[in-house]
Amino acid sequence: MLRNEHLADDPAADVSQADPAFLADVLDGLSQRKKAIPARWFYDRRGSELFEEITQLPEYYPTRTESGLLAAHSADVGRIAGKGRAVVEFGSGSSLKTPRLLSSVAPSFYVPIDISGDFLRDSAAALAESFPGLPVLPVEANFMHPVQLPAEIADVPKLGFFPGSTIGNLVPRSGVNLLRDMIETMGVGSMLLIGMDQVKDTAILIRAYDDQAGVTAAFNLNLLERINRELSGDIPLDAFKHRAIWNDTWSRIEMHLAATRDVSFMIAGRHFEMGADETIHTENSHKYTPRSGRQLLAAGGWTPLREWSDDKQMFSLILAEAKPEPTAP
Ligand code: AVI
Repeated sequence: MLRNEHLADDPAADVSQADPAFLADVLDGLSQRKKAIPARWFYDRRGSELFEEITQLPEYYPTRTESGLLAAHSADVGRIAGKGRAVVEFGSGSSLKTPRLLSSVAPSFYVPIDISGDFLRDSAAALAESFPGLPVLPVEANFMHPVQLPAEIADVPKLGFFPGSTIGNLVPRSGVNLLRDMIETMGVGSMLLIGMDQVKDTAILIRAYDDQAGVTAAFNLNLLERINRELSGDIPLDAFKHRAIWNDTWSRIEMHLAATRDVSFMIAGRHFEMGADETIHTENSHKYTPRSGRQLLAAGGWTPLREWSDDKQMFSLILAEAKPEPTAP
């Protein structure tokens, strides 16, 4: 583990206030032959605002398509799951999606889980206002690991909610781990409503991740600005360009920051060099077919019950159940 204070001999490289996990991920990631920084570091305040803007872009179809699916089918979810479950949302709902689901499933509790306490409290308060009488129990935790849920819902059947195709930002191995951890968190017998973005025409996908207005480019480049701001970096932003590519082998859109020329820079007192066209890989966004989505869920211990898609099969919502492990034949 890196110790910040060892890097702070040069006052210009003082990172004593920095998040040590961010510092470690950036220094490690940029020291690899194939440079990469985990996508979770996109979401500082500015990054979160830019992501909200992305969800409104004409090219970024996932948010509005999933919202449409929820509007059309959450009553079915309520019928299949039954009333009175505790809705456990993985990532706290800042969008219109959560109220849509809550209105249809008549939950006994709403339990948003988020790593960012501020964000969690704001969105939990907003929801509590729209649903007077619904007990809201926010849990500040990293849902990438099993989470201890409040004692009040120990014996209440649960419905997990994981919208937005956020699962797609994980490589399959991590996605499966998360799905398994969700069962540990909520218990066998729970249900899960999950959004999964679908494989489609590559041009549509590329446009969704490289929009005309340049909002996704700004979102990607904000990571470099964040490094400069928080980790005493001097990365010249004009030496990097946003790039979105389709990786067919892994069935995913990849976002990269590509160097437009040979470039060198300092971060936290450490020197880095990149050659022209070398990239920093910043995000994966996996896309599924109906079959590959079901297989991922099954590998994570979830049995798909129902699936809803729009008429162009752009995006799917899947309701699944954590049934007891069947005996192997
Ligand atoms: C949060 N996540 C599901 C988004 C996605 O589509 O993979 C993040 C995003 N990156 C660029 N545009 C949107």
